[in-house]
Amino acid sequence: MTPTRQDLAQSGTLEELYGKLDRIAMGPGWNKPTPSLWQAPRKTLVPAHWRYEQARGALDAAGRLINTALAERRNLILVNPAEGNTYGTTRTLVAAYQMIMPGEWARVHRHTPNALRLILDAEPGTYTEVDGVNIAMEPGDVLLTPNWSTHGHGNHSKACAYWLDFLDAPLVQLLEPMFFEPTEEEGHEAFDKAAAPTTDSPFVFTLKDTLKRLDAAPADPTGPFGTQIELGAPALDTTALFMMRLAPGKRTATHRTTANNIFAVVRGSGTSTIDGERYAWKRGDVMAAPAWRPHFHEASDDALLLRVTDEPVMKRLGFHRVEGQA
Ligand SMILES: [Fe+2]
Repeated sequence: MTPTRQDLAQSGTLEELYGKLDRIAMGPGWNKPTPSLWQAPRKTLVPAHWRYEQARGALDAAGRLINTALAERRNLILVNPAEGNTYGTTRTLVAAYQMIMPGEWARVHRHTPNALRLILDAEPGTYTEVDGVNIAMEPGDVLLTPNWSTHGHGNHSKACAYWLDFLDAPLVQLLEPMFFEPTEEEGHEAFDKAAAPTTDSPFVFTLKDTLKRLDAAPADPTGPFGTQIELGAPALDTTALFMMRLAPGKRTATHRTTANNIFAVVRGSGTSTIDGERYAWKRGDVMAAPAWRPHFHEASDDALLLRVTDEPVMKRLGFHRVEGQA
């Protein structure tokens, strides 16, 4: 029986009180097993590096072993290796390598998580259908599928197509407004094949345009971001995208922020040092710099990094802090 006001008031010892509080789903704030507040962000998720080369091998095996009719998507999730984590690449974002084979169709669906993709290797004829428009997927291009936009992927080329997906799904899981809907109708595929892929869409940033903008941007090789431009403003409500150009032999300034950052290598090679861990990267690799982990980069040649960050969330909520620009 649930304790009455009088039962509770008559508790003779703290232990007795705790026992009664347990039964009414209350906890003594002065006797918590773990603190609720702490001085500075804790190191929960860890710095990490994933290699495209290994993903290619695994995706090629998956190409033999699973088809897109069975799998909603043939992808490899980059699970942050922190103990106990089972999904996110950082606290709010998840990245995944995905592949579709020639002639395949990854069926249309929509969901509240915002998504974007960076194309790694794809031949002309590979596309993403976003709200009925077929957008061409070419290496180095960045393609958006915002909250609730309908999207599917097709490949009419003769080569397997590989890309990186980024979603704010861990954030949506935390906040709980998750909705997902399969929207494929009978005969959709035949209809879809008719339309020629285009890059005339607000949902794509082509590498060609990005390079043009980088050429015109003020060079800052020893700043925290090298030479940087933003794709979108921000690209998605929760997620901002920046293309960083790194100069060979130059070290970027150490940077620490409450925002989570994922870096994907669009071209070139180099190293990133994230909270003391040094990772040597190549094209297609991914590095995670979770919140409040100081990090810097050193390119060995002319390199491009796509920075995917939850900065818009941190800024909007008043939680964005940056430290150590030098
Ligand atoms: Fe999706």
